[in-house]
Amino acid sequence: MAEVKLKNITKKYGDVVAVQNMNLTIPHNEFLVLVGPSGCGKSTTLRMIAGLEEITGGEIFIGDQIVNEKDPKDRNVSMVFQNYALYPHMTVEENLGFSLKIAKVETKEIEKRVTDAVQILGLQDLKKRKPSQLSGGQRQRVAMGRAIVRRPDAFLFDEPLSNLDAKLRTQMRTEIKKLHQKLQTTIVYVTHDQVEAMTLADRIIIMKDGYIEQIGSPIEVFSKPTNVFVATFIGSPPMNIIDADIIKIENKFYFKIDNELMMPCLESKYDLIKDKKKIIIGIRSEDIVPQISPNYGSEFWNFNKKIDLSEPLGTETQLFFKLGAKEIISRMYNPRAVNVGEKLSFEINLNKVHLFDSISQKAL
Ligand SMILES: Nc1ncnc2c1ncn2[C@@H]1O[C@H](COP(=O)(O)OP(=O)(O)OP(=O)(O)O)[C@@H](O)[C@H]1O
Ligand SMILES: [Mg+2]
Repeated sequence: MAEVKLKNITKKYGDVVAVQNMNLTIPHNEFLVLVGPSGCGKSTTLRMIAGLEEITGGEIFIGDQIVNEKDPKDRNVSMVFQNYALYPHMTVEENLGFSLKIAKVETKEIEKRVTDAVQILGLQDLKKRKPSQLSGGQRQRVAMGRAIVRRPDAFLFDEPLSNLDAKLRTQMRTEIKKLHQKLQTTIVYVTHDQVEAMTLADRIIIMKDGYIEQIGSPIEVFSKPTNVFVATFIGSPPMNIIDADIIKIENKFYFKIDNELMMPCLESKYDLIKDKKKIIIGIRSEDIVPQISPNYGSEFWNFNKKIDLSEPLGTETQLFFKLGAKEIISRMYNPRAVNVGEKLSFEINLNKVHLFDSISQKAL
């Protein structure tokens, strides 16, 4: 049982600032997922918690103890990497028990913990095999087993599934979720995979350039992104982003997208935009709806556009066209063939439109 706490954590490699003044409390039993572009500091954050990387500034607490000066082995956290180097000459069982043996845990206790881990991970039939006789997913399970036997206060996962093929990833994702429910411990998990992040996380952290851009539940970061970066990072395809001028005609505000299109602004948003000249509009693909019979009412906006490209994906078809200078994507869920150059009517419910400041890029 332990809470993990990062207080003003900074990590510099020479001039490179990998993590910048990070503050974070991870409650016991939380499944926290870190995402962000390559090089944003995810692995560095995990490695500092694990004790594999010296901290330049700040404090890390595990439970109520500051662990800055503690060796990795004394922190009672277990890390699982993308490249789970198993010992090739040892069987699954031996691999599982090895770290306990090094730590001079009693043989009886080692046996018990290894048996538990084998059970939890369904490795019963494989325990006498060597790593070379296992599939990628099975090896990954052994790597998790090695973490489990140490009964850590927290698990740290650094892209543990990224070497597996798509099908196995999905399967292992479910297993990790079940594992978390079974073990009831804190997990900090780094991934590049959106679906993994959304499905596993209690909370997601979106990082950029060593900073936290947003922390929230999967639903929160998806539906209420705090800035353009998060809006376009979370969600696939990324949220459509359109630059527009704000104009006022007969006391009504509009977002002028190009010479033909003006999106009305909801009256409830007037206060947010009335002093601005420009705006960034964000609309998710699923909120730009191809519509045969439009809804009428002040919260709906309809327009016609020629389709530049259509990509049928089965359950949905993605329609590409331009709004202003930007290429954007609409998702159509009732599959029918759409020809390039065909003109379609689209509808946007203005309540679903995200507005961002044109300079700070922060959500309004
Ligand atoms: N040992 C090191 N020496 C110098 N710079 C480093 C070192 N390790 C990492 N960095 C730099 O620190 C920054 C953060 O690296 P980190 O490995 O944490 O990124 P990441 O978010 O895990 O990226 P990825 O998604 O590619 O794994 C990067 O700019 C990286 O180049
Ligand atoms: Mg990394």
